[in-house]
Amino acid sequence: MILSDSKTQIVERGNKKVYDLGDKIVKVANAAKPVSDVFNEALNLARINEAGIRSPKVLEVSEVEGDGWAVMTEKVPGVTLAEKMAEDPSRFYEYLEQFVDLQIEIHGFRAPLLNRQRDKYARMINSLAQINATTRYNLLERLDGMKKEFQVCHGDFNPSNVIVGEDGNLYVCDWAHATQGSPAADAAMTYLLFALQDKQQAEAYLELYCDRADVPMQIVRRWMSIVAASELARGRADQDADFLLSWIDVVDYQ
Ligand SMILES: Nc1ncnc2c1ncn2[C@@H]1O[C@H](COP(=O)(O)OP(=O)(O)OP(=O)(O)O)[C@@H](O)[C@H]1O
Ligand SMILES: [Mg+2]
Repeated sequence: MILSDSKTQIVERGNKKVYDLGDKIVKVANAAKPVSDVFNEALNLARINEAGIRSPKVLEVSEVEGDGWAVMTEKVPGVTLAEKMAEDPSRFYEYLEQFVDLQIEIHGFRAPLLNRQRDKYARMINSLAQINATTRYNLLERLDGMKKEFQVCHGDFNPSNVIVGEDGNLYVCDWAHATQGSPAADAAMTYLLFALQDKQQAEAYLELYCDRADVPMQIVRRWMSIVAASELARGRADQDADFLLSWIDVVDYQ
């Protein structure tokens, strides 16, 4: 694909850039990212579109000249929940309720061809050079002991991936990490993502999620070391490594 000069850049991170083309969004990976990851994100999104979850429609995967491989999707006009929360902190809890209800709604869907959460976490734990074989074994055993579930899990569910559409509906973007698996694991990941920013917001989220989903907090907490290992393996932010390692350590392996 060729990107027009009128595009605007929404984000630039180490391994990608996201552009707004007016009515479409293009997410361009850098050369270091495996091409298969880009296709996987597009395939996840196609499966999520087909499952009937409100999400941007996937349009195209191709190489951007002089840049990298990219996924093009429809643009959902609106504002993210993260922006709303930042704009008006007094309404944080109201937005959090919408956020939690949406996550629980997504967990009600099935997409039987999506990658399996268990396989993804096992792969990520095995790829971690920062922890020793004994700790990796403990984490894999813990993963193996978890209840087998097959619900749609976003895998990176945080307020910046929820768009409040101009039509008043909520849409979810960024399905790169979607799997079928345990909702409690997905909630543990969201809790972790909040905790990396704000501990108080993380606690408010966890309490509300467990209450609304009728899930014991202990079950979500049991996933925390696994999701911390998985986030560490993604290597999104070097400065968070010690925090994530401490979450892996905190486990009580009785
Ligand atoms: N289809 C879309 N319509 C409207 N806005 C979008 C759309 N896709 C992405 N965005 C905006 O671009 C931002 C970044 O996109 P996205 O969340 O996919 O990338 P990312 O968070 O950098 O990716 P990753 O979590 O995979 O590292 C979103 O937070 C949202 O504001
Ligand atoms: Mg995102």
